[in-house]
Amino acid sequence: MELGAGNVGNSVFKNLFELDPNLLKLFKFGAHEDYEEQQDYINHISLVIDNVTQAVNHLGDMDSLVDFLKQLGGIHIPKGVKEEDYDTLGSAIMTSLKEVLDTNFTYALERAWEVTYSKIKAGVIADNYENL
Ligand code: HEM
Repeated sequence: MELGAGNVGNSVFKNLFELDPNLLKLFKFGAHEDYEEQQDYINHISLVIDNVTQAVNHLGDMDSLVDFLKQLGGIHIPKGVKEEDYDTLGSAIMTSLKEVLDTNFTYALERAWEVTYSKIKAGVIADNYENL
């Protein structure tokens, strides 16, 4: 597999929908068997990649990163994304990292990603699910 951002995004979402096919149904493209060919699917992956890039650009400023992640989580609530879906997303990301990095995905790297993802998850959830 080529290590382009689009391919990584595709790998993560393929793993996500395998882990939980109900998440595929949240999207309009979920109605299509060849969803990977659908423009909406490709568009969501581009949005994800743009947002990851933006999040990385906020890394130097924790307050704005916290706000950014919270806003990202907030826009997903009306789309039907539940708190626990971020655990599934975490597993999908870890599976993709294993697939892409293979033997380079060391125990230390795996632990480091776990810590990093748990912080991202906390930022995206924030207090978004309180008082809904
Ligand atoms: C559990 C994983 C995720 C699910 C199930 C999910 C689901 C969705 C759905 C259903 C939409 C609406 C699409 C539409 O109406 O056509 C959406 C929009 C969007 N998603 Fe995700 N998403 C996930 C992860 C992410 C991640 C990780 C990012 C960014 C890092 C992201 C960024 C966006 C953005 C920017 C939009 C557009 C929101 C708008 O302007 O209305 N998503 N997502």
